[in-house]
Amino acid sequence: MRNTELVQWFRQSTPYVNLHREKTFVIMLDGEVVESPNLSNIINDINLLHSLGIKLVIIFGARPQINQLLAQNKHQSEYYNNIRITTSEALDIVKQAVGRVHYDLFARLSLRHSNAPVMDVISSNFILAQPIGVVDGVDYALTGKIRRINIDGIKDQLDRNAVVLMGPIAPSVTGEMFNLPFEEIATQIAIRLKADKLIGFCAEQGVLNENGEVIADLQPQEAQNYLNQFIEKGEYHTAKSRFLQAAADVCRSGVKRAHLISYQEDGALLQELFSRDGIGTQVSIEESEVNRIATVQDIPGLLELIRPLEQQGILVRRSREQLEMEISHYMIIERDGVIIACAALYPYDDEKMAEMACVAVHPDYRDSSRGDVLLTEIKKRARNLGMEKLFVLTTRTTQWFQERGFELAEAEDLPKYKRDNYNYQRRSKVLILPL
Ligand SMILES: CC(C)(COP(=O)(O)OP(=O)(O)OC[C@H]1O[C@@H](n2cnc3c(N)ncnc32)[C@H](O)[C@@H]1OP(=O)(O)O)[C@@H](O)C(=O)NCCC(=O)NCCS
Repeated sequence: MRNTELVQWFRQSTPYVNLHREKTFVIMLDGEVVESPNLSNIINDINLLHSLGIKLVIIFGARPQINQLLAQNKHQSEYYNNIRITTSEALDIVKQAVGRVHYDLFARLSLRHSNAPVMDVISSNFILAQPIGVVDGVDYALTGKIRRINIDGIKDQLDRNAVVLMGPIAPSVTGEMFNLPFEEIATQIAIRLKADKLIGFCAEQGVLNENGEVIADLQPQEAQNYLNQFIEKGEYHTAKSRFLQAAADVCRSGVKRAHLISYQEDGALLQELFSRDGIGTQVSIEESEVNRIATVQDIPGLLELIRPLEQQGILVRRSREQLEMEISHYMIIERDGVIIACAALYPYDDEKMAEMACVAVHPDYRDSSRGDVLLTEIKKRARNLGMEKLFVLTTRTTQWFQERGFELAEAEDLPKYKRDNYNYQRRSKVLILPL
């Protein structure tokens, strides 16, 4: 039996596979995530990302595991500014808990299905720590902060296809070990590596609004505002808050996107990365949509957008070669690196007329004025080229253009070249708009 859903999903994911290849993602695995029954699926999906050529740095935390072991040992930590004060007695316990999580993740990441490519997992002293010291009269003891990161060392490992795994403990140059907040490690690594994405997991689908719905997009300041609310409620030590802390910081420092998804939902990571809109919360600094002139690199994405419309007979078929030659005539709307709309402009200088052709908006993005955005931009470009009229040939979209000021005309009204090549069988309507 044919599984058309699978075929469709596989095809739709192609642009994202190309988009993510060779990119660097920093993944935050909070101790909460490590506890989750869904961890094996998450690790399988991380394995898949690696097979698709994505460079991965995994930073794990172990706060719940540390707390549990401290409680078993009847030890209670004190906090200042939401950071644990690590005594030498506590550090021994921290090392045990972190060590267990580390080896557990190590084992899970090494699990390989037959035929899967070998994945080297590397942990090294890429980070050197130093004590936080005394703040406001409070001595943080063996709680540290980052002193230096061996970024080149990490890059070397990523270039040779290894996955880098790091936990919340790092040595100092004096040979002592320090306990570090894992969100700080993830933040600094993502910034210094100039990572393409920071990815984190939490118990819900993402950040939720008052109605319990996922907020799809947040600017760094908005992420910070939510974090402040959570801190006020005493919820700093959740996977969500620690991700938001890191996300707000990395996005302000040049990392393009940070994604927060559920660790409870099987496949959330793949859905977020390989579908058009994702399912979690994305923190990013830039507008997610841009209009620009197409380049040869956009041809696969353009074909993906227009081929279904050509097959339905709505657009005239264009070969890849034709697109390559005429690519500079095309403008596109790009959303998160994927082309969701296009239109082309062909000027006929002698008649001072230009054709608006190949107008298409992806079905998922229609009825939100993107067609109008394309038309406004094409009109502006045509005017800049000294054109006096804009025309279209269409079989099924006549009204849309009429509602925007185009008027029905005849094939004889077209520029000579178009007139001579008019396909009378197709019986397209001719519509003209004075500029
Ligand atoms: C035509 C098209 C580009 C419009 O894109 P869009 O971003 O959805 O357009 P807008 O949001 O600016 O406009 C939406 C309005 O146009 C209407 N509309 C969409 N297709 C239409 C059509 N074929 N005929 C008449 N009206 C149409 C919608 O119903 C909506 O009307 P409303 O505002 O009253 O609700 C898009 O529907 C598309 O890609 N269609 C398939 C390709 C095509 O027909 N291209 C033109 C060939 S020359």
